[in-house]
Amino acid sequence: FALNDSSPSAHPNGTLQQLPAVIIIGVRKGGTRALIEMLSLHSAVAAAQNEVHFFDWESHFQRGLPWYLSQMPFSLPEQTTVEKTPAYFTSAKVPERVWRMNPDVKLLLILRDPTERVLSDYTQVYYNRLQKHKRLQPIESVLLKDGEINLDYRALNRSLYHLHMENWLRYFPLDSIHVVDGDQLIRDPLPEMKQVERFLELEPQINASNFYFNKTKGFYCLRDHGRERCLHDSKGRAHPLVDPSILQKLFRYFHEPNRKFFELVGRTFNWS
Ligand code: A3P
Repeated sequence: FALNDSSPSAHPNGTLQQLPAVIIIGVRKGGTRALIEMLSLHSAVAAAQNEVHFFDWESHFQRGLPWYLSQMPFSLPEQTTVEKTPAYFTSAKVPERVWRMNPDVKLLLILRDPTERVLSDYTQVYYNRLQKHKRLQPIESVLLKDGEINLDYRALNRSLYHLHMENWLRYFPLDSIHVVDGDQLIRDPLPEMKQVERFLELEPQINASNFYFNKTKGFYCLRDHGRERCLHDSKGRAHPLVDPSILQKLFRYFHEPNRKFFELVGRTFNWS
């Protein structure tokens, strides 16, 4: 598709739809909703409400950039549009497609402890199936096969961060990808958000008064122009208790992939 098909589409009140200059590419269950909501506290940011799935879903991608543009919020010309689709990070065809749209796009990747991410992934599928009145096998029988880690379990692959990062680094330099520490964002969002502001070269705006800890939810919630709100109930759910011996197997399984990821990004994370 041609880029000039996607020139910003104008609206009478001076707002327009713009292609994203910033994309939150993942990871699924890393804290992507929290990140885009927190970024939206900044007046220069216009965030797409829904996950767009443009670069990973064939039926969307075939519609071309004009369709992608039509999914974006109306914003002022000086604002930056951001979208988040967590499945982008783990989809091998996506990096090249994003690069073809804009090789200078800035990418945000929020990661958390790979074992915790697997448990969060399982929990999400568990609730989705519950809603459809379907059952899901207990976590132990999903994680293990013949007493060893079940390598067929898809959620494990999504936590092999180095594999996916290698695909992105084929197209984008490391300094185009900022990794947000999702575990830290849960514990103390402000320092992580300050780093994001710096990476995006936004005027510093997000501050301590934008966050307050909600004891009932057990997470930080947002305060925006005096209006307080927490993330949806589906964010911050309890994870299943897993037998410590199985957790140990998971920690061991992720040890080498984690080391490779740290080497790729030149930074370490406090993962078990
Ligand atoms: P859990 O529900 O498993 O705890 P995503 O938005 O990418 O699906 O990520 C969901 C995760 O965001 C949640 O996983 C939760 O741990 C994390 N999170 C980070 N900050 C949060 C916040 N302030 N409120 C709720 N969840 C938050």
